[in-house]
Amino acid sequence: MKGIILAGGSGTRLNPLTTVTSKQLLPIYDKPMIYYPMAVLMEAGIREILIISTPEDTPKFMKLFGDGSHIGLSLDYKIQPKPEGLAQAFIIGENFIGNDNICMILGDNIFYDPNMKEKLIRATNLIMGATLFAYKVDDPRRFGVIEFDKNNHALSIEEKPLHPKSNYCVTGLYFYDNNVVKYAKELKPSKRNELEITDLNNIYLNNNTLQVEVLTEEAKWLDAGTVDSLLETALFIRDKELAIHKKIGCLEEIAYRNGWIDSCKLEESIHSMGNNNYKQYVKKLLK
Ligand code: DAU
Repeated sequence: MKGIILAGGSGTRLNPLTTVTSKQLLPIYDKPMIYYPMAVLMEAGIREILIISTPEDTPKFMKLFGDGSHIGLSLDYKIQPKPEGLAQAFIIGENFIGNDNICMILGDNIFYDPNMKEKLIRATNLIMGATLFAYKVDDPRRFGVIEFDKNNHALSIEEKPLHPKSNYCVTGLYFYDNNVVKYAKELKPSKRNELEITDLNNIYLNNNTLQVEVLTEEAKWLDAGTVDSLLETALFIRDKELAIHKKIGCLEEIAYRNGWIDSCKLEESIHSMGNNNYKQYVKKLLK
């Protein structure tokens, strides 16, 4: 399985914060936002990752991560010239995806779930179909919304419905089999002129090949789409890190614990880190 991080879009809702930089590079407490979705892919065991962003911002992501070898990854980059929809990522990424299955995560989605690893493993083991991750929200009208039957099977998915049929939203983490490229090419732009991920998910739903993992009560999902949720997310990460005595989204740590980099490689990273708390934390891993 390969991974895509979609990190484009106009980010205008966060202006002036995003006037000269990408939303997905804004800080969430002590790391750039994109570290958190990157960490989710790494926890899923995915090492070949494509970052898709705007013409202006792609060079910044290249500067941040390079080829990814320092964290045991193989990274590729592609440009999305205009924000023409989430599902366009599978057309832009067609050559990268090749014959593999694919996981896509949005670059502004932050997940925290103590049981995330087992859910991710289940999703990566899926050979056919798609897996979505649902989360209960107060304000479902801002999202894709999943309706469930009494056995927790998905009945319908609607994009930003005026009258939501449930409080469960579709988060920005999607696992698909290789058919997703073909399906994405068949989509027609919606009224807002985007290739909608919800239309793609409905193809899998209608084929009876859609699985949904529901994030539990103790989990937290945030899409950092407004200034308030940006602050809320940063405070959540700080408080949680203090409570669990562990960093969330520390890419060097995940790579080291996964056995993707050895202590020499980790030491090389540490040397290039300057002097800060992040470095002190990573240094402790060597002890
Ligand atoms: O966050 C989860 C939600 O993401 C889902 O519940 C919805 O079903 C899904 O449609 C999407 O909601 P929005 O349409 O409101 O997403 P937004 O336009 O905010 O884009 C999500 C992220 O993807 C954002 O960081 C910008 C980036 N993006 C967006 C588009 C449309 C791109 O990189 N390229 C694009 O073409």
